[in-house]
Amino acid sequence: MFNPRLTETLTDFPFARLNALLAPIAPPSHLAMINMSVGEPQGAMPAFARQIVMDEVDGWNRYPPNQGLPELNLAICEWLTRRYRLPKDLLDPNLHVHPTAGSKEGVYVIATIATPQEKGGGKPVVALPNPFYQAYLGGAVLSGGEPLLVNANAENGFLPEFDKIDEATWKRMSVVYLCSPANPQGAIASMDYLQKLLRLCRQYDAVLALDECYAEIYTGQPPAGGLEAALAMDETGGKDPFRNLAVFHSLSKRSNAAGLRSGFMAGDPKLVAMMLRWRTYGGPQIPFAVQKASAALWREETHPVETRAWYAKNFRVAEQILHNRFSYYTPGGGFFLWLDVGDGEEATRKLWREAHLKVLPGAYACRETNGVNTAHRYIRVALVHDEKTTREGMTRLAAVL
Ligand SMILES: Cc1ncc(COP(=O)(O)O)c(C=O)c1O
Repeated sequence: MFNPRLTETLTDFPFARLNALLAPIAPPSHLAMINMSVGEPQGAMPAFARQIVMDEVDGWNRYPPNQGLPELNLAICEWLTRRYRLPKDLLDPNLHVHPTAGSKEGVYVIATIATPQEKGGGKPVVALPNPFYQAYLGGAVLSGGEPLLVNANAENGFLPEFDKIDEATWKRMSVVYLCSPANPQGAIASMDYLQKLLRLCRQYDAVLALDECYAEIYTGQPPAGGLEAALAMDETGGKDPFRNLAVFHSLSKRSNAAGLRSGFMAGDPKLVAMMLRWRTYGGPQIPFAVQKASAALWREETHPVETRAWYAKNFRVAEQILHNRFSYYTPGGGFFLWLDVGDGEEATRKLWREAHLKVLPGAYACRETNGVNTAHRYIRVALVHDEKTTREGMTRLAAVL
């Protein structure tokens, strides 16, 4: 009755495992719960965007267009052009971008779009970093591909070494996922890393699916992006600079708008066209109100500065309280702490039992390779709260572990 890809492989979603782990443990009732397990921004979405959604009182009887309103696609192209210093008018709103219901939908669907029945004489391979955002595995498995987990740990600067994959496997590769800045470790892929990986993908006609949903949350320089990396190595005179590349963005983190469910895919026009086809058959259109609010958010550049300041404050608090315990480092991007606590599951239980603090064992965002879960020593802590709550959470964590 069921699709075995769903029932046999996609069985241990991290938050379900976390709830099961903590269910038998009674937390201290005198302390209010602080949930730092989920990467859900707790800041407010800008008021102007809320107002646009509220003002959209008409049009709910109509189907919104699948391909995005012209004003949204244009706002996205203009934002990409500003953010990545692309030449004016290089991006065509009808060809290079496609709105999605958050970046999650895009990264989930791209593997199905880009994975054939067979490749290189065998089952196609979909490579993903390990640990990873779960939608990559969902996409890989449901596409019919064979997931290949490529470890990203402290030894390789938390960036997967896809270039070490053997040639026979590369020949079967359909999609390579990369997240930069990375969830959970916050590592940022350099321009050079991105170009080398894109070159490899092109050599074997695989798609580079680059998740850039944390691109606006950074502590130093703005992270390099796939589009600018591709353009800087373009040999087609601007005719086809983004071939084999799809990047994914989101308003969830940039604009504290996770509930809006608004993101987009950009890049290779052939992939964009197939994303439109996929969504025309079965994807959810994005409501008019959401599209209009999204266009306004992509056009506005002051609120992301405030968003960054919010996280910068939180990292300062964490750094102050944790010092260099747990191999503390302030990540280049994203809003997670990736702490080496020795035994991530045990630390998670202890923090719940003694501090009413909820974090995620690193191992739950990672799968075993060769019998080892390389993230078992870690916990992931989402610094998404206001400064006061962050301070309270860090103080409890430092006291208990
Ligand atoms: C790495 C990564 N990619 C994608 C997403 C999806 O976010 P959204 O669909 O809200 O854009 C998340 C959400 O936490 C994430 O951490």
